[in-house]
Amino acid sequence: MDKNYALITGGSSGIGFEIAKDLAERGYSIILVSRNEQNLQDSCKAIADEFSVSADYISSDLANKEAVKHIYQTSKERGYTVEILVNNAGYGIATPFHETSLEDEEKFIRVLATSVISLTKLFVRDMVDRESGKIMIVSSVAAFAPPSAIQVLYGPIKTFMNRFSDALNSSYNRLGITSTAVCPGFTVTNFHTASNVQKMMDDVPSFMKFSAERIAKEGVEAMLKGKVLCVPTKTYKLLVFLLKATPYWFIRLLENTLAPGRYKTK
Ligand SMILES: NC(=O)c1ccc[n+]([C@@H]2O[C@H](COP(=O)([O-])OP(=O)(O)OC[C@H]3O[C@@H](n4cnc5c(N)ncnc54)[C@H](OP(=O)(O)O)[C@@H]3O)[C@@H](O)[C@H]2O)c1
Repeated sequence: MDKNYALITGGSSGIGFEIAKDLAERGYSIILVSRNEQNLQDSCKAIADEFSVSADYISSDLANKEAVKHIYQTSKERGYTVEILVNNAGYGIATPFHETSLEDEEKFIRVLATSVISLTKLFVRDMVDRESGKIMIVSSVAAFAPPSAIQVLYGPIKTFMNRFSDALNSSYNRLGITSTAVCPGFTVTNFHTASNVQKMMDDVPSFMKFSAERIAKEGVEAMLKGKVLCVPTKTYKLLVFLLKATPYWFIRLLENTLAPGRYKTK
């Protein structure tokens, strides 16, 4: 039986699929989690064919409350020891906050945050018993950016996830378990089409867009080194540095000048 499994949520496409391939190349066996079964089958086959490792999948919708238990139990029943947990699945909501239902927002929070916490809670217990394990949370540069007018909850959830990852790292690194928050900037994946913001992505200058392969490579290297935070690419490292160094009132002033009326009340 293979010992070193990496479980990757949202591993059937985009950044998650590239992370899975990178880890397979390093010899890890792979478990992919997402909803579309055909995509999962195709991605597993591609990984198994290219890297000669075992690649399995668990089809599950992380917006469902029971999903996390099902994922954990299935991986136990199949005898997998999850050495690496990558919490990557995600999407955006482009509809204005006042037009979405509370259920839409609750599902969003479940996929991007609650399921991350629950999955980590279950798998970290086994990591504590073994005194080894790696956790990655795919966050975003949005965690450091000023509020977005169209995606009200996205940035705050990613900030929360960064803090959660940081706290995990502090709690468990003495036991040989680390957690790394990986914060990509604009990355060319299906994310923007799935989130109905492809038009906005098309307008982003090409020097600010990076391939999922590049993001995955930098993210995996940081995770394997046990780094707390990884902002892939020099472009976004500089941007995050500037965002952290600049006083918030100045950023708001700049935004108000570039996008006048955005913060104006009636
Ligand atoms: N692309 C960017 O510019 C960018 C920038 C910063 C951060 N990120 C973050 O990177 C992560 C990966 O995004 P990506 O760009 O690789 O997007 P992507 O290509 O759209 O991949 C998203 C993955 O998540 C899965 N997924 C979505 N909803 C799910 C659900 N309810 N339950 C289970 N799986 C679900 C999708 O598969 P199914 O649809 O089949 O379920 C897919 O495998 C996200 O957390 C995102 O916030 C992306």
